[in-house]
Amino acid sequence: MSSLLNQLHSLRAQAQQDIAQADSLEGLETLRVRYLGRKDGQLTKILQALPSLSPEEKKVLGREANEAKISLETALNEKKGAIEEKTLNAVLSAAAGQDLTLPESPLSVGRRHPLAQVMDDIVGCFLRLGFNLAEGPEVETDFNNFTALNHPPDHPARDSHDTFYVKNFRDGEGLPLLLRTHTSPVQIRHMQTHKPPLSIVAPGRVFRHEAVDATHSFVFHQVEGLAVDVDISVADLKGVLGLFARHVFGSNVEIRFRPAYFPFVEPGIEVDISCTLCEGKGCRVCKQTGWVEMLGAGMVNPNVFRAVGYDPDKVTGYAFGIGVERVAMFKYGVDDMRLFFENDVRFLRQVSR
Ligand code: PHE
Repeated sequence: MSSLLNQLHSLRAQAQQDIAQADSLEGLETLRVRYLGRKDGQLTKILQALPSLSPEEKKVLGREANEAKISLETALNEKKGAIEEKTLNAVLSAAAGQDLTLPESPLSVGRRHPLAQVMDDIVGCFLRLGFNLAEGPEVETDFNNFTALNHPPDHPARDSHDTFYVKNFRDGEGLPLLLRTHTSPVQIRHMQTHKPPLSIVAPGRVFRHEAVDATHSFVFHQVEGLAVDVDISVADLKGVLGLFARHVFGSNVEIRFRPAYFPFVEPGIEVDISCTLCEGKGCRVCKQTGWVEMLGAGMVNPNVFRAVGYDPDKVTGYAFGIGVERVAMFKYGVDDMRLFFENDVRFLRQVSR
């Protein structure tokens, strides 16, 4: 019996000491289980000896055990409170010296790339005029990119396109596949699969094997337009392009047509818009002419209609190809195209909404 009482006393002393040294809530819980746990707690183990004791001994050991239990529970609770208070104080003192009334650091919101915005703007303008969206692949056949667009195999205009050829892959005629040099092959694809009347816009990336400088890049973007019907005229083309120019550059701009050569249109036209930076007076950007070259256009060459199985005696059409980077540079007054590809956020923030 006295050895049980001794055990109880030393258990109580040891437990008090452990509790006093505990410094976390998890540590305290471990101690509670170790000493007071219902199943395997050390106090429970001592009390398991009770049935073998005399009634007098039971009374003494029972009372002492109960006292020990209560005092350890009290010690655990007090220590718990102390640890919680210490944690709270640590949080509060970490916050001290911080001004909770300061505004939070600004969240910067992402936005679409300026080229994507300009492209959407151009395409959106034509969709509202009733054009449909058409798309084509970036790897094209020689036929769609050149032959059907009235560039026969030995035609010198092919050279002006600085084509990237896709190695070892050839189309059904044994001609090499290539990265499209313009979006005009989408015209061919669309006419092969649709009957007139039709009007489409085809935005996309195009590739040319050119050295990169302020106004050239080996990859850039175009928006192609095509309309075919029974009596489409140059006047329709001029009307539509005038609407486009005023939509993108503002209601004061004017457009002008100059003759140009593209094999797939006749007549071929280069379209200038009046310089919005100097309002036509002449400046660095328009090279003192008051006009800026903006796109290529023209009336679809009968040979193109023949290549897709249309009857050139029955239908006419116009086509145009807008250089997206050129529009973006002029719109934002940027004189180096590379800025649009380098993606320095300081630049992107300046030019995008
Ligand atoms: N595809 C021509 C180019 O990239 C542009 C163009 C399109 C010209 C449609 C006339 C008609 O140079």
